[in-house]
Amino acid sequence: MSTLSAWLERCRAEVDSGLGAVVSETWPETFATPLAYPLQTGGKRIRPALCHAAAQAVLGREDFAIAKSPALAIELVHTYSLVHDDLPAMDNDDERRGKPTVHIAFDEATAILVGDALLTEAFAVACRDLPAEAGVRTVTALARAAGHHGMIGGQVADITGGVEDVDTLVRLHAGKTGALIAFATWSGGLAALAHQGGDLDDPVLGQLRRFGELVGLAFQLADDVLDAEEDAGDDGPPSFCKLLGVAETSRRARAYADEAIALVDGLADPTMLVALARFSVERDH
Ligand code: IPE
Ligand code: IPE
Ligand code: MG
Repeated sequence: MSTLSAWLERCRAEVDSGLGAVVSETWPETFATPLAYPLQTGGKRIRPALCHAAAQAVLGREDFAIAKSPALAIELVHTYSLVHDDLPAMDNDDERRGKPTVHIAFDEATAILVGDALLTEAFAVACRDLPAEAGVRTVTALARAAGHHGMIGGQVADITGGVEDVDTLVRLHAGKTGALIAFATWSGGLAALAHQGGDLDDPVLGQLRRFGELVGLAFQLADDVLDAEEDAGDDGPPSFCKLLGVAETSRRARAYADEAIALVDGLADPTMLVALARFSVERDH
């Protein structure tokens, strides 16, 4: 087993147990099953992994306790976004990860409330185990990444349509998926600095944020290449392959990943960040 997949397994075990604790003791008791359901359907946990990998890059060693707060908060926000994205008024999807979506498994009002609860709880979790100053910065940045300056802005651009050029498509994805991924790497680094008693304005945080933006973009471009055959029909959403062609899209994906890797190469232990950046463009699914 490669170093990355063994590390990802350890990371997943930590994240799954942390998320389980967040949704324990739910009231009313009947809400416990729907609330836990979308956290248990097999998400890849890529965002918490990037957060923990960034903490490790700064810290110089593996310790999944250091960035636990932001890592769990990101997955809660991501999960809420998927529950609401699948609703009939949005993408109207009956299945996610091969299983019934929350509004199908339960009902629509329950799915709205599950999303609301996950999002709201995320902000308490985000600062739970951090020193005060780092906690405030983390909560503020999470709000910016998840809201209309970030993920929701991207979702609005996506449902409004009319994206016809590469720059606007980059901006859409920078919001829709990039903002949360950039928050993941930035907040992991911040948690590690806070743990070390370091300077919370250290420029390494700007590098980690940019790393996340680039990897988010590389991931999206690689996704479009993997989906290129399905796009052939042409009435689907805009994609990088439609605008740039498959060869140029895959060249740019690799270039973004290389640029990201160069940003973190000199950190104390960038192994997992580098492996995740490579995985974002080399995966086959
Ligand atoms: C899928 O994200 C949805 C988008 C944000 C575009 P992931 O591929 O990370 O989803 P899961 O959590 O692993 O299912
Ligand atoms: C998922 O987006 C929701 C967010 C990124 C916030 P998409 O609609 O593009 O992804 P899937 O196809 O539902 O996973
Ligand atoms: Mg969708």
